[in-house]
Amino acid sequence: MEGLNTLSGKKNLEKMKVSEKEVTSTYGSRYFTESIPKYVMPEDEMPARAAYQLIHDELNLDGNPALNLASFVTTWMEPEADKLIMESMDKNFVDNDEYPQTEKIQERVINMLARLFNAPKECHSVGTGTIGSSEAIMLGLLAHKWTWKKRRQEEGKPFNKPNIVMGADVHTVWEKFALYFDVELKLIPLERDTYTVTVDKVAEEIDENTICVGAVLGTTFTGQMDPIKEINDLLMDIKKENGWDIPIHVDGASGGFVAPFLYPELEWDFRLEQVRSINVSGHKYGLVYPGVGWLIFKDKTDLPEELIFKVNYLGGLMPNYSLNFSKGSSTIIAQYYNLIRLGKSGYTDIMENMMSNSQYLARKLEDSGKFEIINKEGMFPLVTVSLKDEEFTVFQLSEKLRQKGWIVPAYTLPENAEDVAVMRMVVKENFGREMIDLLVDDVMEACESFEGEETVEKVEDQNPSLLY
Ligand SMILES: Cc1ncc(COP(=O)(O)O)c(C=O)c1O
Repeated sequence: MEGLNTLSGKKNLEKMKVSEKEVTSTYGSRYFTESIPKYVMPEDEMPARAAYQLIHDELNLDGNPALNLASFVTTWMEPEADKLIMESMDKNFVDNDEYPQTEKIQERVINMLARLFNAPKECHSVGTGTIGSSEAIMLGLLAHKWTWKKRRQEEGKPFNKPNIVMGADVHTVWEKFALYFDVELKLIPLERDTYTVTVDKVAEEIDENTICVGAVLGTTFTGQMDPIKEINDLLMDIKKENGWDIPIHVDGASGGFVAPFLYPELEWDFRLEQVRSINVSGHKYGLVYPGVGWLIFKDKTDLPEELIFKVNYLGGLMPNYSLNFSKGSSTIIAQYYNLIRLGKSGYTDIMENMMSNSQYLARKLEDSGKFEIINKEGMFPLVTVSLKDEEFTVFQLSEKLRQKGWIVPAYTLPENAEDVAVMRMVVKENFGREMIDLLVDDVMEACESFEGEETVEKVEDQNPSLLY
């Protein structure tokens, strides 16, 4: 072999010996004797398999997504969806000119959702895919800020004091919007025992500078719903009386994919005149892995033209309304897969099953006598509970459950209800009765360990074992 006698030749030989070994080594411990640098880039390369295994093993320290009841976000999809996702991992969505079909798919999803949200036929709805509801909410509210500003300018009125009105039950991203986009935040404290906003409080806060009223379909804290129809009626009266045309943006991050299937008669969407924009998280009950959300405007006039950027340097002229630029295409394609694969009947079946499972969980917890159900109306597939006794706290309980692998968040409610500490369990598609039984067993065992009574009879123990 050429160059063997030179210094660099020797080095190559050494390297070759190592790499031969590397080819077959899965575990780095066969040849790593020191830990790899974590905060500086290593000087040398390592075999792909070893790098994979190293990271894979470290990630075992993360929680198990299947036991994560904290998050609304999808943790399971069908293998066919997984396949489509892998096949489209390398497509940058923003390259519309190169991937025109992917863009068409996004357009189809937007159309389907606008119709699902009952956009009137005479409207020309528009929308965009986003990374999640957070981006969708920011973009929706930004459009309303611009519409308000343009109107004020046309009327020759001051436009330096925009405000936004919403309940303290909104997700943190609403507050982020107010801060980042310089809009006064009028946050209405929660109404005790309902834990949502009331229409009377909204009436007290709105004025001519209100760019938008926010209303939530399925709050993050308790899974309840703001009185959207009543707020709409109030805003219509106000429009008639003094001409303020204040739009509603509905945050349907979680409820937007549930209500159309379980409560088709419930009026919360574009059937209501003042509802001008809606966001929904595809990665929550849209049943897609994280990062996809959707923003739909009732009509193209709700999205000021000036906010749409048109870039030409990727080939073709691409309209773009987003906060970021490049992003993956796979979750958009996965959303389309779900919509055509499941259809309305498939989504309805899944939502019904999840609801029935979450009601089962709520019943079991309530029957134990230890918990109070906060979201008694049980509109969405999640259960929020507080403890009846003060012997221990939900925080302790949550920590104890974590030792068993369950991830169940504990937190206090927002302003006006800060003294209420709750635990929330989101019941997803892949959380069936058996898992609920196991969870409830562990919850009871944890409670009794605090009460010093280790007497819990597990569901499994109630059955005769195979030995009998
Ligand atoms: C009501 C509500 N709005 C907005 C968000 C933010 O959504 P995303 O995580 O899709 O950005 C959430 C997340 O849980 C939510 O529950």
